[in-house]
Amino acid sequence: MFIIRPIENRDIDTVVELWEICNITRPWNHPETDIFRKMNQKDDLFLVAEKDSRVIASIMGGYDGHRGWIHYLAVQPEYQRLGIATALMQNIEKRLIAIGCPKVQLMVRPENTSVIQFYEELDFEEIESVCLGKRLIQD
Ligand SMILES: CC(C)(COP(=O)(O)OP(=O)(O)OC[C@H]1O[C@@H](n2cnc3c(N)ncnc32)[C@H](O)[C@@H]1OP(=O)(O)O)[C@@H](O)C(=O)NCCC(=O)NCCS
Repeated sequence: MFIIRPIENRDIDTVVELWEICNITRPWNHPETDIFRKMNQKDDLFLVAEKDSRVIASIMGGYDGHRGWIHYLAVQPEYQRLGIATALMQNIEKRLIAIGCPKVQLMVRPENTSVIQFYEELDFEEIESVCLGKRLIQD
């Protein structure tokens, strides 16, 4: 069994390792900075799954007042296909609904399309839209 709980300071190194193992860090994002910024929001939407006192999965949620977002979903490879990501998604969805968030979105990198099936199992649908971005702070 595993438990799901908000991230704590003591989890930071393990979560960075998890993201590196799962290949979801990118050169233009500094994982520690991303974690620090999100933890500063103190919204309890950045969760980890813990088994036998070890962090084995993460999910970072957010709500901007219009829609919810999900980032950094990752499960340690040896614990994949056991329903842990599904449980994290369900938990974050409940938390988003509880704060009045009406819809949720996430982005999948073009080279990671194999995970789309996972999200489709959870009733996510592809949205026809072009995503634009701009960096406001150079880390
Ligand atoms: C994507 C990921 C989070 C899924 O985690 P998980 O805990 O293994 O997912 P679940 O066990 O809850 O999967 C539920 C269902 O989703 C589908 N699914 C999960 N992973 C899948 C994959 N890699 N390919 C196809 N279908 C998948 C299956 O239908 C699965 O049910 P089944 O195991 O009974 O067949 C995990 O593979 C991962 O950490 N990947 C690397 C990081 C990543 O790419 N994150 C997403 C960034 S957008």
